[in-house]
Order: sequence, then C-alpha cells, then structure tokens
Amino acid sequence: MNNACIEINNAVKKVFHDGRDWFFEKRFGLFIHWGLYAVNAWHEQEQFRKGLSRREYTHLIGKFNPAKFNPDNWLDIAEEAGMQYICFTAKHIDGFCMWDTKQTEYNITNTPYRKDILSMLAEACHRRNFPLCIYYSVPDMNCKYYPNQGRSYELTGPEQGDEPDVAKYTEFVKAQINELCTHYGKIHGFWWDANGHTINVQDKSVNNLIRSLQPGIIINNRGFDGGDFSTPERDFEDAALNGTKFYGKPTEACEAIGAESWGFRSNEDYFSVGALTRNISRHMAKGANYLLNVGPQADGTFPAETVRILAEIGQWYRHVKEAFEQMDSLPLSADNDNVLLRRKGDALYVYMLDAPRKSGIILKSLAIQPTKATVLNNGRELKAGVEFMPTLWTDRKEYLHIWNIPVDELANEAIILKLEFDGALLDKLTQGQTV
Ligand code: GLC
Repeated sequence: MNNACIEINNAVKKVFHDGRDWFFEKRFGLFIHWGLYAVNAWHEQEQFRKGLSRREYTHLIGKFNPAKFNPDNWLDIAEEAGMQYICFTAKHIDGFCMWDTKQTEYNITNTPYRKDILSMLAEACHRRNFPLCIYYSVPDMNCKYYPNQGRSYELTGPEQGDEPDVAKYTEFVKAQINELCTHYGKIHGFWWDANGHTINVQDKSVNNLIRSLQPGIIINNRGFDGGDFSTPERDFEDAALNGTKFYGKPTEACEAIGAESWGFRSNEDYFSVGALTRNISRHMAKGANYLLNVGPQADGTFPAETVRILAEIGQWYRHVKEAFEQMDSLPLSADNDNVLLRRKGDALYVYMLDAPRKSGIILKSLAIQPTKATVLNNGRELKAGVEFMPTLWTDRKEYLHIWNIPVDELANEAIILKLEFDGALLDKLTQGQTV
C-alpha cells in the first residue's frame, strides 16, 4: 500500500481501490488549528516556543469559552471556498484534547464551554457528507507518560510526577484512537503530526488499529509508519515549491493562510490571494491535494480577514476547478519554467505558475494550433497561433504562442488557460503517460 502510484489515463483515479480513494476526488480541504492557544492569539506552539511550564500554560483551560462556535458556519465558509473536506486538530502539542476523552482531564469538557467540540463538528460534517479528518499530535506536553526531554515540541524536561515511558504513552495514544475512531461516526482521514525523534520506533500496530476501527480511512506519513500519503508543508520542501515534477505518490500539500502561525494569531501576516491561489494551482497541477489552514478565534469564529480571503479563493476556484479534476495526463513539458501543462479530453490546461510579467506565453513543446483558447478565470477568449517568434529567431522554429492574456486584470490570482485541440493531435503528445 505504500507503493501506491497514481494511475493516469483513467477518467476516475483509483489508487488504493478501496474507501481511501475519496481523497482523489475531493482535492481541496480546510485545515483547522484550534485549541487553548487561541485564547492568547499568539501561536499554536505558544507553550513550546515560549518555553512555558504546565503551570504557566494550562490555566488557559479556565478561559476557553467559544460561545460563538457553530460548525455549520465553518463548513459554509469552506464550501464557499470550494473546499470539500476538513481536517481538525483534535490534539496539538500542548496535549489539550478537543473532545470528551476519558484518558485525561485536560480536555474541552473541563473548560467553561464544556461541550464536546469534536462531536459537534462531526455531526455537522456527517449531516452534509463532508469528509472529516482528524489531526493528532504525537508530542504531548501534558501527558505524564510522554518522554518530554526538551527536544522539538516538548517541555524542557519531565515535570514532577511525570513517568516518561514510551510503551505506556503508546497505550495512551491507542486508547485515545479508540475513542476518536468509535465515538464520532465515519472518520475519513487520520493526520498524524510527530517529531521524528519521538517515534523512531516504527510500530505498525498503531495504524492497524485505526484501520480496523475505520475501514477506508486514509492516513498520512507523519505517524508510526509510512502511511498512505505525503505531506509537504509550506515551502519547506524545495521539491514542493519548485520545479514541475509530478507527485507520483498520493500527496497533500498544506499551507496556512497566515504566514506566522497555524493557530489564531491577532497580529497575523496574511498571504495574498495571489500567492495562495498560485500555490494551490502549482501543487494541484502537480497531482497533490491541498489543505489550507485557518486558525479560528477563541470565540469560535473565523477571523474576518480569513473569511474574505477564503471567499476570494472560492470565486477563483469555481472558475478554474475543471483544471484540477480528473486530469488524464501527467504534466507535459512546456519547455517553459513558469508553466505546467496537463491534458483532459481534447483540452490542454496551462497553469501559469508565477505572476506573469507579460501578456503572452510561448509553449516551446507545442506547434499545433488550438481550435479555441480561453482564460478559465473569466472565460475570455484568447489569441493563439503557431509562430516564428522574433526573440527566438535563432531557434529557426515555430512555437505555439498565446497572447492577449489579461494579466493586469488577473494580477491577484493564479491564471489558468484552457486550449482546445483536435484530439488526435494531442494523442501523439501524451502517449505513454503513466507514472
Ligand atoms: C507546522 C507547525 C505545526 C503545525 C503543522 C501543520 O509544523 O509548526 O504547529 O501543526 O505545521 O502541518
């Protein structure tokens, strides 16, 4: 199962041939980082990054009272943005649990709010068939069994009364998995977040337990074994950001709307819609799903700026979405570093990866005339022709040139073009396209 490859040339992608394949049909998701850290509105790793002891941090449990939490509002905003699934932080590194767990008192039912947030969210998701995935941090700054040793995402060392013990901690994790995978109906995905050194012991029994309780669940690669899909994050991984290489394996890229934090941050620096849509377009064109994160405020609502950004992404996504669904071919070479090309039926989609500096592009790998060229963003028809280009005169060759692209008008969003062709001509170009 770890060697799953994406089969192209197959209208509906089937990778695992089981329940996990939902992941290839619903490709754009909402990531949520929410917990006690929303109260101070600084960063989801506040306790770790400021080096706070339990006494200095856990008192936030008495202040968390998200009276305006309404999961349907969240899902409405997500659907408006074009998103089709959600991944929710049930437990982050502070160890605080957003569900009614019996394994620790450090959970939502002991806040002034008292209600089981995960259960409310799950109920809303199930009502509208919106897949729900659970994020779960392996590092845990609160559980006495977790070996806190001052490594990444840990307390500086064990506190009084702690009994660091990896085996006992794994039992604690399994007991929580039991709750998460049996009390909340169908869970579509499990999103581990571990720091490498905590689990240098591979333990297949953990994911096996999840799979036995939730058949068809898809599991990421940050847990106790390799899982089903990889998770390039922000722009930390060069391969994720640069180049035009197709992700040959199931992948979900993740990014936050805010540049500083995943949890709610009052002084957040938000990414522009242009930057976000170009990032979404790049990863999705290369075959990845995309999980975009919002940190809800302590009252349970989304920050106004994220609502605006998501609404604008939604307007863009609605227009361009056909370029991300059910593609037939791998990216073809465009012989142009700023462009990716993929085929669906008799059309080639052209993903312009960076903010274009001019109103035309040259696709050196193509010398065939499209029957029609449009900008998906606004449906406008473009000019296209096979031409000998003055700046490329030394090549002594004709290339496909598309011009008249409204780059200034669309400066704040990723531009995607659709070129329609006589299909037989395209067949020659895409022959043998499998990973
Ligand atoms: C980063 C953050 C972490 C967050 C994760 C999501 O690693 O540091 O807090 O949960 O991204 O992928």
